[in-house]
Amino acid sequence: MMRIILLATLFMFSVYTYAQEIKIIPQPVEIKMGSGSYTIKNQLQIVYDAKAKSSAEFLSQYLNRFYKVNCKLTESSGQGRDAKTIYLLVGAVDKKEAYQLDVKQNNITITGDEEGIFRGVQTLIQLLPVPVQSSQPQIIKLTIPQLTITDYPRFAYRGLHLDVGRHFMPVDFIKKYIDFIALHKMNYFHWHLPEDQGWRIQIKKYPKLTEVGAWRNGTIIGRYPGTGSDNTIHGGFYTQEEIKDIVKYAADQYITIVPEIEMPGHSNAAIAAYPFLSCFPEEQTKIPANMISKASTQLQEEGRKKLVLETWGVSDDVFCAGNEETFAFLQDVLDEVIALFPGKYIHVGGDECPKENWKRCDNCQTRMKSEKLKDEHELQSYFIQRIEKYINKKGKTLIGWDEILEGGLAPKAIVMSWRGEAGGITAAKQKHEVIMTPGNPVYFDHSQSENEDSVTIGGYNPIEKVYAYNPVPKELNADEAKYILGAQANLWTEYIKNPKKVEYMLLPRLSALSEVLWSPLEKKDWKGFEKRLTEQFKRYDFWKANYSKAYFDIKATIIPATDNKGVIWKLESKQNSSSIKYISHSAGMINSSGFANGKDYTTPILVNSSMITAAIIMQNGKAIGNPVSQTFIINKATGKKIFLAGEASPNYPGDGAFTLVNGVQNEKGLAKSKEFLGFSGSNCEAIINLDSIQLIKKVTVHTIRQTGSWIWRPLTVEVFISDNGKDFTSVGLTDDFIVKKAGLETGKMIVSFDERETKFIKVIVTNWGEIPAGDPGAGKKAWLFVDEIEVN
Ligand code: ACM
Ligand code: ZN
Repeated sequence: MMRIILLATLFMFSVYTYAQEIKIIPQPVEIKMGSGSYTIKNQLQIVYDAKAKSSAEFLSQYLNRFYKVNCKLTESSGQGRDAKTIYLLVGAVDKKEAYQLDVKQNNITITGDEEGIFRGVQTLIQLLPVPVQSSQPQIIKLTIPQLTITDYPRFAYRGLHLDVGRHFMPVDFIKKYIDFIALHKMNYFHWHLPEDQGWRIQIKKYPKLTEVGAWRNGTIIGRYPGTGSDNTIHGGFYTQEEIKDIVKYAADQYITIVPEIEMPGHSNAAIAAYPFLSCFPEEQTKIPANMISKASTQLQEEGRKKLVLETWGVSDDVFCAGNEETFAFLQDVLDEVIALFPGKYIHVGGDECPKENWKRCDNCQTRMKSEKLKDEHELQSYFIQRIEKYINKKGKTLIGWDEILEGGLAPKAIVMSWRGEAGGITAAKQKHEVIMTPGNPVYFDHSQSENEDSVTIGGYNPIEKVYAYNPVPKELNADEAKYILGAQANLWTEYIKNPKKVEYMLLPRLSALSEVLWSPLEKKDWKGFEKRLTEQFKRYDFWKANYSKAYFDIKATIIPATDNKGVIWKLESKQNSSSIKYISHSAGMINSSGFANGKDYTTPILVNSSMITAAIIMQNGKAIGNPVSQTFIINKATGKKIFLAGEASPNYPGDGAFTLVNGVQNEKGLAKSKEFLGFSGSNCEAIINLDSIQLIKKVTVHTIRQTGSWIWRPLTVEVFISDNGKDFTSVGLTDDFIVKKAGLETGKMIVSFDERETKFIKVIVTNWGEIPAGDPGAGKKAWLFVDEIEVN
């Protein structure tokens, strides 16, 4: 009896451990565990239906490459099932890309539609054990638990984008990128091919697009607007033969490539090749004197008008919408593009097209009159609608960035909503299909670590935020929600110069996105995902992928102290069996002892005087990873209650209103965007409750100015005081902006006055307003970035 009980316990335990080991990303719809297991051996047979041939080849190559298993591939003859065989069989399914995976004692079967079988193969390879990294040869048994998985995707469009215009990426890496898309059960690759800084696709009718447009003589150094030119030629392009090869490579993994031919903006590389495309062929390309390369300076001196851009940002020099030759050119280009890409979508960009040149171009103005267009937005709409007609005639559907809503949406266009979700919501309500790509949280060029030490474009989109994303906005009812095809992460490469950094920015956020897009909403479970993510990291190591380890960073948060006296620095780490050590010393003091004499972090740290703190993760007595450090400048406003009259933009929400009184003055510019509140076109108006009557004589507002990114210094700062929080009296106003750190463009504005008693302080920081002519973003609303209000 005893023996039987023992066996029963063991049996249950083994089922339990298998259940524990199923760590698949994205989480399947349903997993039913069986008992027992199946072991893959060398000389494995893979029997496939003709339509599943590429799935069979993928599986065979994967097993060979990673496990040295040789497979024998045989096309199915419809005979019975043998032992020791994997079957890939096409069958009827209710949902596109659905599959069922059955692991039995003697064989494994994946049934589904063609795409579904391939997705099922991705699940199967995640059921295989992942060897730990070791220099020693290892013998691993490829044992898979018996189970049945039923699975299908939540969204039809699961996309990933790559900008190869800012930095060219070689063909081999494009294939590796496609592999990553496939391994995460994603199905669209949005290939952003032309940019201001480089045209990347061979067009036989217009050879100069790649002879001239694919190369630039230099690139700015550092974050835009830059500190100079690197004077290094950068460029490259894909030949049509290479593109055909890549399209086939993607198709074999059931990935559709969406080519983007950007128009009418971001077109400087094309204009450099064919200046007639510009409204003003005789005007020189504007690159600031201290940012242009020596070679291009020389070309300009020799009379060259148009250049491939060497700086980032948005350029006024765009395709002329009045000139018929522009449309003839674009139709010729699209003819060749359409012949190369069999998918049904063609992306035509449409974003960030300044209207300055159109306003002063006779051809564009004539077009507006003849077409009865009331403004330049309607001219852009005319442009896109005309191209849409052409694309539709060729049997393709147009996709554009959400600016294509302005001036009227092309009748059948799909909108990619990138400036938040508003564009997508509007389009869905107009019964247009939508792909969600909001900057927050699916721009993967934003950093995923708060301690990022490489240059990124700014913004902070950690994996938690990506995982929490739901592409269906709550503003849509069930009928409208049907227009959301899915979502996509975008990877712009201004600050991503090589494949290794692409992987570093992409992974592991792609894992989170894949689950957002594939798994049923009700299966979403961050804690469960975290467990599976740990296994995914092992796979990433196994695949030799250069993934970010930001997930393990110390997460430092600042919260108000309970009695509003100071703030609390709270530290957390996901690193197993580790502890945190920290040091702190008064601001201004030098500490030379490092972490050797650090204290063990056991509870959040109360900060009520100005200090510098730093913390690091300790594992087995050794410090690992990068330390986090924080300077706190404690003043009369720190940790106090604060109310904003109008909320900050959802794109730059910081940590809420508290951001302005958390004792942190930004020292890293846009790299630490979490430290700012951003206001688009509006003022920042704050009321701070000091808790008791205090003597004050100075209020300093800390801000940033980066006109290249449309961020302007405040126009004025005015300070008011009040005893009751209702009736306020002005005590001073300033329009004097003091630069703190030139390279970072951080600055402050100080309002000083005779010492006054007050309990409440109101601060109105006024927005610059409209961006003046001649500056990037001219005519648009300026951004106002405020990081701290300091009261002394
Ligand atoms: C975009 O990020 N400009 C679409
Ligand atoms: Zn024009």
